[in-house]
Parts: sequence; structure tokens; C-alpha cells
Amino acid sequence: MAFDKKPNKVVVIGTGYVGSSYAFSLINQNITDELVLIDLNKDKTEGDVMDLNHGVPFGAPTKVKAGDYEDCENADLVVITAGANQQPGETRLDLIEKNARIFKSIVENVMKANFDGIFIIATNPVDVLSYATWKYSGLPMERVIGSGTILDTARFRFMLGEYFDLDVRNIHGYIMGEHGDTELPVWSQTRIGSEHIHRFMEKYKPEGTMEELENIFINVRDAAYHIIERKGATHYAIAMGLARLTKAILRNEQSILTVSTLVRGEYGLDNLYIGVPAVVSRRGVERIIEIDLNDLEKQQLEHSAKVLKEAMKPVFE
Ligand code: LAC
Repeated sequence: MAFDKKPNKVVVIGTGYVGSSYAFSLINQNITDELVLIDLNKDKTEGDVMDLNHGVPFGAPTKVKAGDYEDCENADLVVITAGANQQPGETRLDLIEKNARIFKSIVENVMKANFDGIFIIATNPVDVLSYATWKYSGLPMERVIGSGTILDTARFRFMLGEYFDLDVRNIHGYIMGEHGDTELPVWSQTRIGSEHIHRFMEKYKPEGTMEELENIFINVRDAAYHIIERKGATHYAIAMGLARLTKAILRNEQSILTVSTLVRGEYGLDNLYIGVPAVVSRRGVERIIEIDLNDLEKQQLEHSAKVLKEAMKPVFE
């Protein structure tokens, strides 16, 4: 019967800054029916569960509890945010050794619970750890999704909206590649409303310059460093991005998001996870969208893939 539909269940592994902010977002946006928090720090997790439950009357009817790996058995989504995060001056790729080891045991424990849903990965370096999760879990690639450059794309759209003093919903453009220092802006496909950004600037912001646009991209690429210098971590925006991705899956939205997914020939790349536009639905990654890139963007994406492949070698060879 329709009314006996199984409630949506999300398990979050890691209740640090990102995991707890993500849980907070899910409740405030009424995205899931059940929410289970798992962390090595049991006291912190129980405190988070109590604190979040007390907010439910202001948010949405969500059953929140502290749990363990056996709660993954009938979960729709397992979202991994656990692991070390960047310290000031540290790159995301510097975290590989530490976090790849943590991931192997986490994924093995989840799969021991006969998990048969979709993984979302947020821990950095997210492209490498998404590939690791795909390898360690044995799940089909469409059901292992990294947050990729969804946050970078959001930063790109936000900063362009500020620059043109426009509603961010009218800014259309992608950041692709590594979620990290080698990511790239796809200027050739960036539009304001339905007009290409360069033409829009000629007509409505003639005082604007290409240098200013390039500086916007640099601020996007380096945003995490600037935030970490000031407050020690980033978590609100990535948590809201994870909530957006969760909604696209649970509501079967068929939304195009620049997630980290496995490329197998798309964009001329093979056998790595990297941030590309992809259609996201209840099945996970439905398909990759191959947008037209100009020669410079193709080179930048190939360089990004090369850097990721090099970084992956010590983990997988
Ligand atoms: C950032 C983290 C999520 O870019 O890598 O804020």
C-alpha cells in the first residue's frame, strides 16, 4: 500500500564540523525521515543527537539517533564526513595517507552491515576517497558519489552574482576537475541569464575586466584556505551542498550537479573520480553530461586528472 512506504534513512559517519552541520541542514530542510549519527567520539555524538532532537519541534519531524554500523543495513544513504581536515597551509591532497587508511576500515564496516544504498563522500581529498570507496565497497559506480566541485560551483555562482549584483539563480556556470588547487572554471559555457558572460559584461558592465573575472575564480579556488585561516575549518557551505545532493537523490530530482564521479572515457579521461556535471537521481549518478570545452579548458581538465592520478598511486599501487 502507498502509505507503507519505507521511511528515508540517512546515516552520517563523522560528527565533526561538517557532519554535525550536515545533520542540522537535513532537519532544517526536512530532507529525511530518519537520521543516524556515527562517530568514534560517542559522547559528542550523543550530545549532538540530544541537541538536534530538541530542535526538531522548530524544524521537521525527523527521527535522530546515535547508532553504529549495523544501522547502515537498511539505510538509503551513508554519508562519510569522517577524517582529518586541512590545517592552515595544508592542501587537500596532503590528507591522502591519513584519510585513505581511515576510509578502508569505515567502508569495510559499512559493507559488513550489508549496505545496499548510495554512498556520498565529503572527506578530502574527496575525489581520491570517492574512488577508494568505490573500490573498497564493490558497489556500482553510480552509487558512490563524491561532493566533487558542487561547493566550488556554488562559490563561483555566488561571487559572480555579487560582482554583477544579480540573483545567484541567474548565474549559470561550472567549476570542474579536482576539488582542489587544479580545479578549473568553464568560462566558455558560463551564462548570465541566457547570455554568455562576456557578452553580458560588454552590454551591462562595460567597466568590468577579464582580470576581475579571473580574480573571482582565484578566490573561488582558494576560498577554503581563506576560511580555514580565519576560523580553522569550513563546514556550513559544504554541509548545505551535501544536503542539496541528498535532496536530489531522495527526491529523484534528475538534477545536474558537478559531483565527483567515475569517468570511463568521458572528457577523454579514464578510471578516476573527478568533478564533472552529472545527472543525479534516486539511482545515484544517472549519466555524465559532456559539455563542450574550449582547448584551454580541455588542457586544464587533463592536467587536473593527471595530478589526481599521480596522487592516487601510493594508495592503489
Ligand atoms: C572546502 C572543503 C569542503 O572547500 O574542501 O570548503
